Amino acid sequence: MTPRESSPPSDQSSWVVLKFGGTSISSAGNWQTIASQIQAGVKSGKQVMVVHSALAEVSNQLELIADAGNEFDPEPLLEKVWQQHRNLAGEFDLDADVVLASAFEDLKRDVAKSRVTGATQPRTHAQIVAHGELLATRLGHAILRSMGIELDWLDARSALQSEQNDMRSDLQNYVSATCSFDPDQSLMQKLANGADIVLTQGFIASNALGETVLLGREGSDTTAAYLAAKLQAERVEIWTDVPGMFSADPRLVPSARLLNMISYEEAQELASTGSKVLHPRSISPLRQHGIPLLIRCTSMPELPGTRISRASDDSEPQVKGLSTRSGAILISMQSAAMWHEVGFLADAFACFRTHGVSVDLVSTSETNVTVTIDAADDLAPGEVLQSLITDLEQLCRVRVVEDCAVVSLVGQKIRAILPRLGPALSAFEDENIHLVSQASNNLNLSFVIDAEQAPRLLQKLHSSIIRSDGGGTLFGPSWEQITQGKRIDSRVASPWWLDRREQLLKLTDVESSAYVYDLATLRRSVAGLKKMKSIDRVLYAVKANTNPSVIRELAAQGVDFDCVSPGEVRELERLLPGLDRQRILFTPNFAPRSEYEWSAEQGLQLTLDNLYPLQAWPELFDGQKLFIRIDPGKGRGHHEHVVTGGNHSKFGVPLFEVDELERLVNKANATVIGLHTHAGSGILDPENWNSVAESLAQVAGRFPDVEVLDLGGGIGVPEKSGDEEFDLAKFDELLSAFRARHPQFRLWIEPGRFLVAQAGVLISKVTQLKGKGDFQYVGIGTGMNSLIRPALYGAYHEIVNLSRIDEKAMQTVTVVGPICESGDKLGSDRLFPKTLEGDVILIANTGAYGRVMASQYNLRD
Ligand code: LLP
Repeated sequence: MTPRESSPPSDQSSWVVLKFGGTSISSAGNWQTIASQIQAGVKSGKQVMVVHSALAEVSNQLELIADAGNEFDPEPLLEKVWQQHRNLAGEFDLDADVVLASAFEDLKRDVAKSRVTGATQPRTHAQIVAHGELLATRLGHAILRSMGIELDWLDARSALQSEQNDMRSDLQNYVSATCSFDPDQSLMQKLANGADIVLTQGFIASNALGETVLLGREGSDTTAAYLAAKLQAERVEIWTDVPGMFSADPRLVPSARLLNMISYEEAQELASTGSKVLHPRSISPLRQHGIPLLIRCTSMPELPGTRISRASDDSEPQVKGLSTRSGAILISMQSAAMWHEVGFLADAFACFRTHGVSVDLVSTSETNVTVTIDAADDLAPGEVLQSLITDLEQLCRVRVVEDCAVVSLVGQKIRAILPRLGPALSAFEDENIHLVSQASNNLNLSFVIDAEQAPRLLQKLHSSIIRSDGGGTLFGPSWEQITQGKRIDSRVASPWWLDRREQLLKLTDVESSAYVYDLATLRRSVAGLKKMKSIDRVLYAVKANTNPSVIRELAAQGVDFDCVSPGEVRELERLLPGLDRQRILFTPNFAPRSEYEWSAEQGLQLTLDNLYPLQAWPELFDGQKLFIRIDPGKGRGHHEHVVTGGNHSKFGVPLFEVDELERLVNKANATVIGLHTHAGSGILDPENWNSVAESLAQVAGRFPDVEVLDLGGGIGVPEKSGDEEFDLAKFDELLSAFRARHPQFRLWIEPGRFLVAQAGVLISKVTQLKGKGDFQYVGIGTGMNSLIRPALYGAYHEIVNLSRIDEKAMQTVTVVGPICESGDKLGSDRLFPKTLEGDVILIANTGAYGRVMASQYNLRD
C-alpha cells in the first residue's frame, strides 16, 4: 500500500454512488433501469447518491452559445435545448413549464448577462455550460419522483470545491478544475439528515469565490469518484452505453473481450491511453481510498460489467488491453551539444513549462530527445505550439510530426511479458515507428506511429496477443458475442448482399466461388461524387476493377477513365468501342520509352511522373501538352504499401526538383496544362485533398498554362459496420472553399476504391473444417489467389456465413483458403455460427482490388 492509500471503506459504509451518462438519461426507456438500480441500492441498506450529466448533446450546444460572439443569435439553440428537455418531460407526463421554468430562466439570464460582459471568458463559459447539468438533474429529480421514488436534490457546487492551482491557466482552472476529495464529515452529516437518495449533477463544482467551475470533458465520472471518496462510499457504479471496459475499442476490433476485472492502475492506464469508457481523472480518488468501481451498461443491466479494484500482488503478468489515441504531435529535439551536457533537458522542458504544454511520452538518446504532446487537448492550440517550437529552436534542431497516434499495450508487469511479445511485434514490420516508450510504472508499452496506420496495427496486435476464447476469469465474452453479431451502427443501411441473399446463394449452384457486383450500389457511389459542386471531372481509376459490366456502367454514368498501362487503355477500347480518347488520362509509371511514343500516337492525355523521360527523350514531348505528377512530400494511406507521397515512394516529381522540371519542360518545348498528385489510397480524412490542392496550386505558380489540378484518388470506404462513412459533404465544402480561393483552376479526381469497393463481394463454399489447439479453421474454395488484400496489407473484410446468417454465432474462427501458404487467411477471429461443409461464405467490400489482383498461384483459378 502506498502511503497515500487508505484502507477501503468497510461494508458498513452507508453510501453507494451511481453515475449515469448523458446517453443513458436521454432515453425515457432507460429511466426504468435507473429507478430499479437505485431501489436495489436502498433495499440493500445503502444510501444512494445519484450523479448524472446533461442530456446528450446539450453541453455541446451550450458551449456554442457560450463561446459565440455577440453577433450570434443564441435563441434557436436555446429553443432546441428547451425542446429536448420538454420532450423528455412529456414522456413522463411532466409539465416542463412547472418543473423546469425557473432553471431555464436562470440559463437565459446568464446568457443575456454574458452578452453584455463579453462571452468568451472562461468564467462565463463555465457558468453557462453548467446549466446543462442543472436542468437535467431538475428533470431527473421530477422523473424519479413521478416513479414513486422520494429523493433530495443537491447542488453539486455546495459539495465539491475546486483547488486553485496557480501553475494552471485561468482556462484550466475554470473548465478543467480538480477538487479535493478527503473524507468530508460535514457533508456526511448534512446528508444524514435528509432522504436516503440524493440526486446531484456531474461535471460541476465551485471555486473558493463561489463561482461555477467545470471538471473537464466527461467530468461526471470524476464527480462520482470525488463524492464517493468524500462520503467513503462502499462502491461506485458508472452506468454507460457500453457493457464495460474491453481489451480494445470494439469499433476497431469486434473480437475485443470484455474485461471482467482489472486493477485501478491498469484502468488508469487504459483510460489515459485512449479507452473512452472512463475519464482517467476519476480513478485516482477511488484508488487512494480503495473504493471499487463497477462499469455497467444501462441498456444491458443483466451484464455484470467490469470491476475495477486493487490488484493482488501475485497477479500474473498479462496484457489486458490495447488502446490507441490519435491527435498526438511528436517533437524531436536533436543536438550534438546535449551529450554529457548538464542542463539540456532542464532547459528544453522549461520551454514546455513556459508555454503551458504538457508532455506525454518521452524518449532520450545521447543526441536526441523526442516527446509527444496531446493535440486533442484544446489547451495546446496552434499558436502556443508555434511559439514553443520557436523557443526550442534556440536550443536545438526541432522536427515536428503532426497526426500521430499512440498505440499502447497495457497490463501489469509488462516488462515480464516482453519476450512473449516477439511474434506480435512483427505487426510493426511495415510501420514507421517514431517512438517507443515503456512506462516506468511497468504498466504500458507505447508505440507512436502515423495516425492512419493505428487501426490496422491495433487489430493485428490484438489478434496476436489477446486470445479470442478462453482467458480464464480475466476476460469475459467478446463484443461480437455480446451484441450477437448485430451491426454495431444502425445508421448504416443493411448492405445490398443481405437483401439479395437468395440470389447469391443460388449463384453458387453454378460457380463454387465468384466475385459478384451490384450495379445499383455502383450507381449510388457515382451519384455521390457527381453531386459535388467543387469537382469538374471524375475519372475512374481502372486498375481497381476491370469487370466489363462495371466498366460499361461507369461509362454510361458519365465517368471518365484514368489508365496506368496500354493494357488498360486497350481493354477500355474493347469494352467501349468508339470511346472518345478525350475521356482517358494516361499515367504510366517507370514505363519504357515505347509507351510514351504509343501514347502520343494514340492522342492520349499523358501524365509524366518522373523527370527521366524529359531528360532522356525530350524529343517525344516537343509541342505536347502535359500533366505532371507532383510528390508534395507527404503521403497517406491505409498501409505503407499504398502511401504514394514522400521519399520512400517511387511516384511523382518531388518539390525540390520543380526548378529542374521547369527547365526541362521549356527545353523540350512542352506545355504543362495540368498538375496531379495522388497521396495514397484508403484515406478517410477529407482534409487530404485540400492540402494536396494547396500544394499543387503553389507549384502551378511556376507553370502559367496550368488549368487543371487532378487531386488523385484514395477516398476510403468503411470496412466494418460502425465505421464512419467518408464525409463527402465536408470534402465538397473544403474543395469549394479552395476554389473560391483559386478560381482559375478546374478540379479533377480519380477514385477507384470509392466507386467499386462496396459494390462487390466474393462468395465461396465451405470445403473443410478443422480444430487445432485453440483455433477453429473454416476452409473455403478460394483464398489469397482470389483476394490477396488480407495477406498483403492485413486488410479487414467483413466475412459472413451467408447460408446461416440468422443463426446464433457461437464460435470464433479463422477463415482460410486452399493455397499452400500459412498467410492464406481471409480473416482471423471471426464470430461464426456453427458452420458446415457446403455453406456459402461471403466476403464483403471486395469490389476494389479484389479480382484485379488475383493470381493463378498453385494453378488455382
Ligand atoms: N490515381 C492514382 C495515380 C493511383 O495510383 C491510384 C491507386 C488511384 C488513383 C486510385 O486510388 P483509390 O481511389 O482506389 O484508392 N491495391 C491497393 C490499392 C492500390 C492503389 C494504387 N493506386 C489496395 O488493395 O488497397
